[in-house]
Amino acid sequence: MRHSLLYSFIGLIAFSTSSAVAQAQLPTGPGHDETVKVCGKCHAAEQAASLRQSRTGWEETISKMVSMGSEGTDEEYESILKYLVTNFGPEAAKPVNINNASPAELEAALGLTRAESAAVIQYRTDKGNFKSIDDLKQVPGLDFKKVEGKKARLAFQ
Ligand code: HEC
Repeated sequence: MRHSLLYSFIGLIAFSTSSAVAQAQLPTGPGHDETVKVCGKCHAAEQAASLRQSRTGWEETISKMVSMGSEGTDEEYESILKYLVTNFGPEAAKPVNINNASPAELEAALGLTRAESAAVIQYRTDKGNFKSIDDLKQVPGLDFKKVEGKKARLAFQ
């Protein structure tokens, strides 16, 4: 009994994180809490961070989610829309997936030197995918502070 519960829980996590699109963390700020509450019911709220689009695009996405059963008040949707347009508008930088980014992408997105990006890729090749930002502390020669400073742009899948 215990086990089957545990497995369905693991299954749920796998479902909510299985998207092929890079998902970064949601930055804090006005509208963050409403987004997590309303948009985190069916999939990870971070799913929202997979897109970069205009206000009209976000209005359409929200309508689509409402038609699929998303529930919230008008005030909540207003804050969510503002939050998404502010943080995930067309100009916002896309997240970089630490587990499949090229050396050039790592250098550009995270401000790493060539040697640091090579060390990240070497570590990834030897030990497998990074699961959280803490795993990056283990990379020899990498200035962890640089990565930590850009953590809003980091995705692990
Ligand atoms: C009732 C469940 C539910 C809620 C609540 C929900 N979503 Fe979704 N969302 C889905 C489903 C199901 C998909 C996959 C749809 C598909 O593949 O067509 C999805 C997909 C997405 C996608 C991927 C792109 C797309 O259009 O398919 C984004 C972005 C997204 N949701 C954002 C949001 C945001 C923002 C909110 C909060 C306003 C939200 N979702 C709330 C069910 C939900």
